[in-house]
Amino acid sequence: MTQAATGFITPLTFQALSGNPVHTALLDANAENAMSHISLARWADMLVIAPATANVLAKLSHGLADDLLTTLYLAANCPVYVAPAMNQAMWHKPVTQDNVARLKAHGVQIIGPEAGDQACGETGFGRMSEPEQICRCLFKTASSSILQGVKILISAGPTREPLDPVRYLTNRSSGKMGYALATAAADAGAVVTLVSGPVQLPAPKQVTVINVETAAQMYDAVLEAAGHHAIYIGTAAVADYRPVPANDKIKKQDGQTILVLHKTQDILAAVSALERRPFTVGFAAETQHLEQYALNKLEQKKLDMIAANWVGQDSGGFDSNQNALQVYWANGQRHLAMTDKNQLAEQLLKLIAERFQTSTS
Ligand code: PMT
Repeated sequence: MTQAATGFITPLTFQALSGNPVHTALLDANAENAMSHISLARWADMLVIAPATANVLAKLSHGLADDLLTTLYLAANCPVYVAPAMNQAMWHKPVTQDNVARLKAHGVQIIGPEAGDQACGETGFGRMSEPEQICRCLFKTASSSILQGVKILISAGPTREPLDPVRYLTNRSSGKMGYALATAAADAGAVVTLVSGPVQLPAPKQVTVINVETAAQMYDAVLEAAGHHAIYIGTAAVADYRPVPANDKIKKQDGQTILVLHKTQDILAAVSALERRPFTVGFAAETQHLEQYALNKLEQKKLDMIAANWVGQDSGGFDSNQNALQVYWANGQRHLAMTDKNQLAEQLLKLIAERFQTSTS
């Protein structure tokens, strides 16, 4: 925090809310590390300055380093992002625009600002981008360098298993999770093929969509494409069993009737068993023993990663706009907290990109 920032909110508030230490001083003899600007600069994967005032932009663009923030910027070798926030007249002032242009020329990424109502009562450009938007930019960049041009195959949605010409067995999958992943992957520069069961969602931009209905059709489409893709993500809720469809509509009878169901082929296991297999990521939808069942699937289907989610609960899982995931791989795991499926997809994709990069290096 800069001196000016501590005038708005105390460091203690930030520390309590974030659960992280807050640094304010350039040289602090009482701190564990008196040269914190150097150690913080080496530690960070990215440096994000949000909000960045006109004064901070001016100092950064001219290399002035008279406090912790500006010194940290000079010492950092990682990608730097600034999210400007100031009065609209200050933003439009030629000197501010010159400073922004200088920072861009120095490789700094500028996020926003947005137009709208300002704290001073005026309206115009200068509002800091929403934190969600800032995070989206960061996730996109983190994944995109790794996934640029990488071919990713994703399955999404439910399957429909016909009982007769007018009825079918299916499940509650809306396709939202898989479509969000396809969008995030395309945004990250990947070449994306989406094999989709029947859903009510528009095709994501820049994604090749192959529409299928049954588990057998999904199996054929995925297996035909899998060998030409570097990554496969099995988000689809594929039927484990299917009936043999009757040629004519099944007529109502007295008493009970019994359905005979046959096992479908496991698409994920088949992809993972290919000789030229992609980096294979499965999903696990569970109503109990989430970790144990997910780890069993990771091992039995010989997956590189598995993303497990609770289903049948009040929030998340099937046909919800939100979800949370517990992601497992050999010797590692990560919890991705409940959030909007679009954001969750970006977080999961970043994790997949990291593990994929490790597997190929
Ligand atoms: O579509 P939404 O409404 O957004 O909901 C998202 C979701 C809950 C469907 C998604 O997050 C999810 O959990 N997808 C996997 C659903 C599932 O079928 O899980 P499972 O535990 O039964 O299967 C494990 C894995 O095997 C899955 O990757 C599945 O795609 C795959 N599988 C299963 C059966 C089969 N015959 N072939 C397969 O490839």
